[in-house]
Amino acid sequence: MKILILYASIEGQTEKIARHVAREVRGTGHEDVLVDIGGSGPRPEFDGVDKVILAAPVHERRHPEGFEVCVAACRKELAARPTLMLSVSMNAAFAEGAEEAQDYVVEMEMRTGFRPTEVALVAGAIRTHHYDYFAAQVVRHVVMRGRDYDPDAGEHEFTDWGALDTTVKAFLNR
Ligand SMILES: Cc1cc2nc3c(=O)[nH]c(=O)nc-3n(C[C@H](O)[C@H](O)[C@H](O)COP(=O)(O)O)c2cc1C
Repeated sequence: MKILILYASIEGQTEKIARHVAREVRGTGHEDVLVDIGGSGPRPEFDGVDKVILAAPVHERRHPEGFEVCVAACRKELAARPTLMLSVSMNAAFAEGAEEAQDYVVEMEMRTGFRPTEVALVAGAIRTHHYDYFAAQVVRHVVMRGRDYDPDAGEHEFTDWGALDTTVKAFLNR
């Protein structure tokens, strides 16, 4: 099968996830086409594509605007194929955050008019040393408020790679 992987990433974790998924797709004998749709690049090609995996992070309660614009513009092509949306957020890393993580996807569906066949809520990463002052404050006092982590440690990766592989394999096998 030909699998199109459409992603956007602001701090790099979703790109890491998308590249990991592409390797997984290749490793299971399928063809992968990886496209960053976060910027203002050309519209992705859907010719011969059997399934689509989308991946985007949540920043300040929403997926990147460029990603949503592209998804909205391609919603007919997307609706014609099985699709798996990987929504990457910190709320996905915590049981009590699951409902809010799901809300981000519902809000994306309402804005774009696109409803993926399957959705996976994927935990992202915190990279304190890479953030500007504003982003560092948002992460510390809003996103991670009251949560068990060390804000002075440079990096916390919460992504469960094993669970991600299971989700992707199940989607490819359906
Ligand atoms: C400025 C900022 C705002 C964020 N806002 C949210 C949020 O509203 N909800 C959430 O669950 N995670 C939030 N996060 C966590 C990101 O979803 C997480 O860091 C993710 O791994 C980012 O993916 P990326 O590296 O591909 O951009 C935020 C992170 C940053 C830096």
